Amino acid sequence: MDIDVELRELTPADAEQFHAFAAHPLVQPTINATQVPTVAEVRTFLTQLAANNDGVRRERAIVVDGKVIGSIGLTLEGSSAELGYVVRPDYWGRGVATQAALLMVRLGFDELGLTRIYAVFSMDNPASVRVVEKAGLRQVDAKTWEIVRSAARG
Ligand SMILES: CC(C)(COP(=O)(O)OP(=O)(O)OC[C@H]1O[C@@H](n2cnc3c(N)ncnc32)[C@H](O)[C@@H]1OP(=O)(O)O)[C@@H](O)C(=O)NCCC(=O)NCCS
Repeated sequence: MDIDVELRELTPADAEQFHAFAAHPLVQPTINATQVPTVAEVRTFLTQLAANNDGVRRERAIVVDGKVIGSIGLTLEGSSAELGYVVRPDYWGRGVATQAALLMVRLGFDELGLTRIYAVFSMDNPASVRVVEKAGLRQVDAKTWEIVRSAARG
């Protein structure tokens, strides 16, 4: 049976749970971080994020059993947005990122009125490619996957 995944807004109170995956050695190399963040730095980041909820970055907590076990976001550029996500390694391989990506794509199209959602993979990341393909994105060039929706659709 599929694991039950919800998305919700992140708050500074999520700093310790967010830090558990953001600072994880299996995650660090994939997210272009220059150094491992401290809990205090994560709290500052989440405070800024909460203050800019209507800005270009729409980030959501990935919640399973009431715990924040990942993060997923859209970076808006007009009616287009780039999708990115991370899941805590002890939850990998259970369909969490796929469900979160499906929810975020729906949010992007239905709530944000986007017409294109894309993901760019600058390094080899087969699990992540699989996630976006299961969320409906299709490869358009060597590094880019996308899903489009006509602006005329409801
Ligand atoms: C990529 C990531 C989000 C996947 O999270 P997840 O919750 O394990 O993903 P899912 O369980 O929904 O799906 C993973 C899929 O990749 C497949 N997979 C895993 N490792 C793989 C590999 N080495 N080669 C090919 N496919 C692989 C799984 O089998 C699964 O596909 P399936 O359901 O068809 O079997 C997670 O590994 C992660 O957080 N990585 C670090 C951050 C990152 O890379 N983010 C993406 C940048 S946009």
